[in-house]
Amino acid sequence: MRYSAFAAIGCMLVIGLGLGFGKGAQPEDDVKPIKEVMAEAMKGGLQKKIVKGDASDEEKMKFLDMMISLVENDPPKGDPTEWKMTAGTAMMNAAKVVVGREGAAEALAESTNCMACHAKFKPSD
Ligand code: HEC
Repeated sequence: MRYSAFAAIGCMLVIGLGLGFGKGAQPEDDVKPIKEVMAEAMKGGLQKKIVKGDASDEEKMKFLDMMISLVENDPPKGDPTEWKMTAGTAMMNAAKVVVGREGAAEALAESTNCMACHAKFKPSD
């Protein structure tokens, strides 16, 4: 009993470190609102940096975390199920960037097309 509890904690630590959380990239405590994700991940230039291949491992991790928040949100406009697919694809490609899959940056660029997503899910102002 005691042993398995330690083993479980050990596993979580290894996974956490493996993901880079041990290097200072802290996961968000809460779901970040879409507008904050936009300001930090998109408008802030992080997306561009990642697509160009200039982002650090920590930045890639932070971006993935924000894409997770994106999926966890409901869109202010449009079909919620389609939103999960659209934001989910961006999240998957952000994960591919983190693990270093080939072609991940190109796939991420395609799935984070600003205008395509805004046309469907951003309320016109
Ligand atoms: C997966 C869909 C999606 C993608 C991709 C996306 N956006 Fe957005 N964006 C939204 C949604 C939805 C809103 C509206 C949020 C709201 O009003 O609550 C928004 C709002 C914004 C806003 C306004 C934020 C505010 O405070 O009102 C900016 C700026 C923005 N996006 C920039 C970008 C840029 C730049 C890109 C491309 C690099 C981008 N977005 C890609 C979904 C997306």
